[in-house]
Amino acid sequence: MSEASVIITGAARGIGLAIARDVVKRGQRAVLLDRDNPLLDTALESLGPLARGLVVDMSEADAVGLAINELTGEWAPTHLVNNAGILGRKMSFHEMDPDEIDRVLAVNLRSVLLATSAFLRARRPLQSAAIVNMTSIAGVNGGAPGLSVYGATKGAILALTRAMARDLAPEIRVNAIAPGIIATDMQKGVFASEAALQEVVTAIPQKRLGSPDDVAEAAGWLLFGAHYTTGEMIRVAGGRI
Ligand SMILES: NC(=O)c1ccc[n+]([C@@H]2O[C@H](COP(=O)([O-])OP(=O)(O)OC[C@H]3O[C@@H](n4cnc5c(N)ncnc54)[C@H](O)[C@@H]3O)[C@@H](O)[C@H]2O)c1
Repeated sequence: MSEASVIITGAARGIGLAIARDVVKRGQRAVLLDRDNPLLDTALESLGPLARGLVVDMSEADAVGLAINELTGEWAPTHLVNNAGILGRKMSFHEMDPDEIDRVLAVNLRSVLLATSAFLRARRPLQSAAIVNMTSIAGVNGGAPGLSVYGATKGAILALTRAMARDLAPEIRVNAIAPGIIATDMQKGVFASEAALQEVVTAIPQKRLGSPDDVAEAAGWLLFGAHYTTGEMIRVAGGRI
């Protein structure tokens, strides 16, 4: 029986879509939020009747509130995965573009606050209630050169995860996942060449990139298991730190 209804932001492709697939495979409902309408339609076709999609730009406060508020009855959310994120344009500390800083902060960080508060207003209480926040090992190590704003948003999500875990206990567990390098569209263009990518892979203790399913496996545990785990971060990074 599908008891749970899991909102997943940024779920039309990549890690978010893999989490949605896992939720549906468990017989639970998945609500995919994404700004990319055609991509979302394709994702929904592959997921079937336990999935539903809402086109929303997670950086727009009113739109996020309105979209989540639409979810009532059996679709009223019981769980939330704050996954939407962008790398942003590479910028050195010598030439920061204030508009680009604001854009990355809005999509990666402000959206977590907005989606969480909308979720709390709309939610249907369930024993296993949980929130999973997608951070990154960049949130711990500062991130790649030129991507410091991205790293800063992911570091802030770690602090937020601890604050949320404390404030929302005992009803809702809140944990974070810190992926390493996962083979998704986001990674395309990060490495200057195939040789540069191979060099990075060689430095990963498990000698391969992660897959979206590797991350979804951890998310599934944090959402539906992990009964006495809250405020924690799990790395899914093949041993990379
Ligand atoms: N891929 C990696 O190596 C990696 C590593 C560490 C952390 N992460 C994190 O995992 C999450 C997912 O990454 P991914 O690799 O699957 O990315 P992706 O770019 O493949 O997919 C991201 C999805 O989010 C959507 N999205 C982006 N901005 C949005 C917005 N403003 N509103 C609504 N939807 C929006 C996109 O349309 C897309 O469907 C991100 O938070 C990312 O920072 C990824």
